[in-house]
Amino acid sequence: MELVFATNNKHKISEITAILPKGFILKSLSDIGFSGDIPETNPTIKENASQKSHFIYDRYKTNVLAEDTGLEIEALNGAPGVYSARYAGEHCSFEDNVKKVLSEMEGKTNRNARFITIISLILFDNEYFFQGIVNGKIIDKKIGGGGFGYDPIFIPNRYNETYAQMSTELKNKISHRALATQKLIEFLKSRTI
Ligand code: IMP
Repeated sequence: MELVFATNNKHKISEITAILPKGFILKSLSDIGFSGDIPETNPTIKENASQKSHFIYDRYKTNVLAEDTGLEIEALNGAPGVYSARYAGEHCSFEDNVKKVLSEMEGKTNRNARFITIISLILFDNEYFFQGIVNGKIIDKKIGGGGFGYDPIFIPNRYNETYAQMSTELKNKISHRALATQKLIEFLKSRTI
């Protein structure tokens, strides 16, 4: 069965391809001839994931999955949240976003935060959601050179290093995206029996 992953991120495609049950073939947007950006204009992560999967479904009538991720910080009332990618402005870098968070967190004693990923899957006309959440803390400076985005300032609970200090293998095993993906895979496996 073919599934389109509504992303241009090759890393994400290979991550899921590696653990997909037998019989499923994952296609990228370029595999189906789509180029350009998919709108993400909703106020929640779940609605954005759904918007992305529906955008492709409406045009290609294919089984499709899409995901959206955000970092929610308690002391910032859930920001950057759905605006995680463009927190410091429209064309900002990961570095700009991290700087903005660090400056807004200056002097804050509540450092609690969580990463949340929601996957929307449209399979034969029905939509299903899979969620992965990792709770942790925002530290007061960047540590670690791996990963991307907010990884250098986030320490997941029960660990004593940032996502950016972890090996790729470890992060890909315990991350918010990994948890959501594992639920998706379990669901797909149950559909192949
Ligand atoms: P996306 O929905 O996966 O594109 O994620 C939106 C934004 O959240 C990204 O631009 C990153 O800034 C941030 N982000 C997503 N996943 C991660 C992660 O695993 N670590 C750190 N930051 C992330």
